[in-house]
Amino acid sequence: MKKTTICFSTLLIASALNAQVIKHLPQLGKDNTDSVIAAMTLQEKVNIVTGLGDDTWTNPPQGKATVIINGIAGCTYDIPHLGITPTVMADGPAGLRIDPLSSGNKKPHYCIAYPTATVLASTWNTSLVEEVGKAMGNEVLEYGCDVLLSPAMNIQRNPLAGRNFEYYSEDPLLSGKMGAAMVRGLQSNGIGACVKHFVANNQETNRKSINEIISQRALREIYLRGFEIAIKESNPWVVMSSYNRVNGFHTAENRELLTTILRDEWGFKGMVTTDWWSGTDATSQMYAGNDMLMPGCYQREELLQAVKTHRLSESILDRNIKRILNYVVQTPRFKNYHYTNSPDLTAHALTALKAAEEGITLLSNKNNCLPLKKKNRVALFGKTSYSFIPGGTGSGEVNYNYTASLNETLKQSGFKVNASLESYYIHFADSLRTAAKEDKKHAVDFAKEPVLSPETIRRQTAQSDVAIITVGRNAGEGWDRKEQDYFLLSDTEKELVEEVCKSCHEQGKKVIVVLNIGSVIETTSWKELPDAILLAWQSGQKGADALAEIIKGNITPSGKLPVTFPEKYSDVPSATTFPGEPAADPINSFYNEGIYVGYRYYDSFNVTPSYAFGYGLSYTNFKYSNLQLNFNESALTLKGKVTLTNAGHYNGKEVVQVYLSAPTDNIEKPEQELEAFVKTKELKPGESETVCFELHGRSLSSFWNDSSEWVVDKGIYQIKVGASSKDIRLQGSFILKQQHVIEKDHYVLQPNYEVKELSTHK
Ligand code: BGC
Repeated sequence: MKKTTICFSTLLIASALNAQVIKHLPQLGKDNTDSVIAAMTLQEKVNIVTGLGDDTWTNPPQGKATVIINGIAGCTYDIPHLGITPTVMADGPAGLRIDPLSSGNKKPHYCIAYPTATVLASTWNTSLVEEVGKAMGNEVLEYGCDVLLSPAMNIQRNPLAGRNFEYYSEDPLLSGKMGAAMVRGLQSNGIGACVKHFVANNQETNRKSINEIISQRALREIYLRGFEIAIKESNPWVVMSSYNRVNGFHTAENRELLTTILRDEWGFKGMVTTDWWSGTDATSQMYAGNDMLMPGCYQREELLQAVKTHRLSESILDRNIKRILNYVVQTPRFKNYHYTNSPDLTAHALTALKAAEEGITLLSNKNNCLPLKKKNRVALFGKTSYSFIPGGTGSGEVNYNYTASLNETLKQSGFKVNASLESYYIHFADSLRTAAKEDKKHAVDFAKEPVLSPETIRRQTAQSDVAIITVGRNAGEGWDRKEQDYFLLSDTEKELVEEVCKSCHEQGKKVIVVLNIGSVIETTSWKELPDAILLAWQSGQKGADALAEIIKGNITPSGKLPVTFPEKYSDVPSATTFPGEPAADPINSFYNEGIYVGYRYYDSFNVTPSYAFGYGLSYTNFKYSNLQLNFNESALTLKGKVTLTNAGHYNGKEVVQVYLSAPTDNIEKPEQELEAFVKTKELKPGESETVCFELHGRSLSSFWNDSSEWVVDKGIYQIKVGASSKDIRLQGSFILKQQHVIEKDHYVLQPNYEVKELSTHK
């Protein structure tokens, strides 16, 4: 939701009420919640299940006075005479999104733009992500908000999906662990996290109506799994249902999803809110267990009539209100927290820097081109070298104070940036911003790369010791990208890479390409040209600072890919079905690839990727030794240990990845699946660390569609421990003598069309 100004309110008539009356009304937090609900009028009941959304700003409900916090997403209704305070919900996944220049602010209320979720996942470091959540959540608390609408946990199914940067990974385990860490960090501040968008909001094209048709197995194993992990491991206060339909029904109106799975099977006790303006039938949303409708005001009359005409039972309203009130009593606003409007942004910026440094991923480094040994003269090419993109657009965007670009951070690090190139690009960027009528902030991100002649390139590289080229991409909420304008390099970009490499290599100089992108792009056709490639992703407002630290060798890169870089777009398993059919205006999106998403597909169907899932280089190297596995069949638990030794010359951290290959006699399985990961501490050259991991029944099992059971089959299981999905260093195996059914779930969410799923057996 990109609207900017929302209001929350106090009930004016409350002051007019007789103090005696107030005294005898039950009060939230003091009296039994059921008695508070019983004291509400029907109108108040429908008010409380609907937000005080955008409407309030333009059209305040009668009797409401408004207090304004600019830029929040919405707030919940207050009933002061029952002691019910409003609560404030704000976006989003890369940091708090409020308007810094709200009228009345003594100083601007800036927030830190943290690295996007994809970068956080690239750190594979759950304690670091928890630290980021803690810092982010402190801004939420100190700027007077109650809930951050984050983390966003959808699966990166296709590189062209507009919101990929907001999501963690193509893998549900990595996604779930990251989401859980983020929730724990956020909620350690006493504010709430909102896990979203539940479920399968994997595309933006027709996002409010698209019907995602997904087999129950793919739903359970891929699309629901990350949410399940995060909800079970971190207890978020709120879950946000998504815009899309799944197997025929809007998620916000789907009782099987919001009640049977979320509450009955997973034990979620919190509140469910809709995404903003989603769904078509408020009554169905109420029945489904979607407690809060956001921004909601426009649905009040509909709900009122539904109760009066017996379409909606008041007891359902009461059930949902109780969950809402249980949420309200936890909030800082209810507890009358005096926020300062002054979080420690300096400390938080350092956390953002640390996360960027661990998330940035080294994709190629021929002949140890990086780190640059001397403080060289740099010929810096590419518009986004001078206009760093810290994050994507839409509700996942943050209003930060300042982000440095690579030209500045390189200079601060002692490099000399070629002055005439710098002045050319800065002038180019300025003129784009001046010419832009509306979106000046993103004018450079979405503009074409300027054309430089081979002579100019030769002249500028001749005056420098090394060249760096940044390729930038942006995308955001509300629209998906196209292969031509996002995934592929434009002709100008390709020529730039080719010419700079040619010219530098003729002069015996090195070239580094920096990718400042939000989602996967094509690399196969040009990746052999430069000497090094650094994947910066959209690493927040400190991203370019982190890049400089890595380039000069103060930090050893330790990021690993949370998503596969395919060789070509047509290799993506959803390439022919995304974003649905009919192509001109999609209604249905068939998930024909089933469970074969990302590396699960590439590995099982022998499709070679450009960069594999889990891949990422370091300046040092690690030796893996002494894998020990201990399997306990009665407890269905595998405990493992492995020793990592830094065998190189730089300090560094390693991400140890544990993949499982399960038997396929009775059910087909992906070639391998990530089942555990551990990031080591920073190891000095020669230093070792033994890391432990544990796999349980669910990690070993598959979801059997027909019986709706999680089954651990009998047979041989292979454990593969390595530095990426394609770089397995040590292996072990164990045998399971019997089949075990470890969980029986409800037979729900059946597809409303046949899904012709891909199979390794065909
Ligand atoms: C987005 C959500 C966001 C909400 C409130 C919606 O358009 O899908 O992710 O939290 O708006 O801004």
